[in-house]
Amino acid sequence: MIRIFELKNIISIKDFERQDIEYILDEASKLEDVAKSREISEELKGKILGLMFFEPSTRTRMSFETSMKRLGGECIGFESSGSSSVSKGESIADTAKMFEGYSDALVIRHELEGVSKFISDIVDVPVINAGDGAGQHPTQTLLDLYTIKKEIGEIDNLKIALIGDLKYGRTVHSLSNALGLYKNVTIYLVSPPELKMPDEVLHDVNKTNITLKEATSIEEIIDDVDVLYVTRIQKERFGDIDEYLKIKGAYIINKKMLEGKDLIVMHPLPRIDEIDGDVDDTKYNKYFTQAANAVPVRMAILKTLIKNNPK
Ligand code: CP
Repeated sequence: MIRIFELKNIISIKDFERQDIEYILDEASKLEDVAKSREISEELKGKILGLMFFEPSTRTRMSFETSMKRLGGECIGFESSGSSSVSKGESIADTAKMFEGYSDALVIRHELEGVSKFISDIVDVPVINAGDGAGQHPTQTLLDLYTIKKEIGEIDNLKIALIGDLKYGRTVHSLSNALGLYKNVTIYLVSPPELKMPDEVLHDVNKTNITLKEATSIEEIIDDVDVLYVTRIQKERFGDIDEYLKIKGAYIINKKMLEGKDLIVMHPLPRIDEIDGDVDDTKYNKYFTQAANAVPVRMAILKTLIKNNPK
C-alpha cells in the first residue's frame, strides 16, 4: 500500500517513503502534457486552494497557483503578512481557522520553522508546507527529484554537490533527507565554515546509506559529480549584516569552470550572484527547467492530496 493515499498533510519530506515519492513523480510525468499545453483540466473543478504566504515567494506561490488553475480549481490568499489582518494583530491560528472555512487545502510559507505543522494540528483541511524558516521545503524536493530523474535518468547512484548556505537552506535539508531513500548516493557538502549543514540533518543522513564528503572548494569536486546544486547565501537569515557580507560571493559558478564537464547545474532560486549569467545559455543550465517542473509536480501533489481528503 502506498502511504501517500493516507497522507493528509505535507509538512516534511521525512514523512515520505520512496514509493510515495515515486508515485508523485510518475503522476507529475503524466500531467506534464496538461502543464505544457496550457490547457485546463477539470480534475479539481469547484475546489479552492488557500495560499497563506507570510514570507516572500515567486516560484512556490505562482506555481501552486498555476497548478491549481490548470486542474480547474481556484485560489485565494495573501502574499505577505502586511496584506492580511495579521498586520492588525490577528493571530496565525485565527487566520488559519478563517482559511479552513474558505478553502479545500492550505499552502503555508512562514519564516518560522514549525508553523505549517502547528496549523496542520488545528485545521481539518490538508496543509502543505511551502517552506518554514530553515526547516523543510518538501514540495521543492519533489520537483528537484523530478528534475534529477528526468535529466540524469535515475536518482540511485547520484553524485551531487550541495553548495552554499547549507545551514539555513531548507531546500538542501529536505533534499538530503529524501536522497537517503535512494541507493548508492554520494553527497558532497561545499560551504563556508559558518554555513555548514546542521547537526540534526547530518544525524538523519548518517542513519542512511548516503556517502557524505566535505569539501571547501568547487574545484575539488567538480570532476566527480553529476549535479551541482547551488544555493543562495540568505541575507535575510543573518542577524549581523557584517557576517553576511564576509561570506557573500564565497562560491560562484561560471561558464569557464563548467566547460568539458559532464554535469548539470541546479538551483532552487532566487539566485543573486552564485551562478554567473553566462551559464544561462549553456547545456549545464537546468535551473530554469527545474523551476518550470514545479507545475506538473505541484499539480500531482494537489490532485493527490485534495482528492484523497475531501472536505
Ligand atoms: N524555490 C523557491 O522556494 O523559490 P521562491 O522563494 O521564489 O518560492
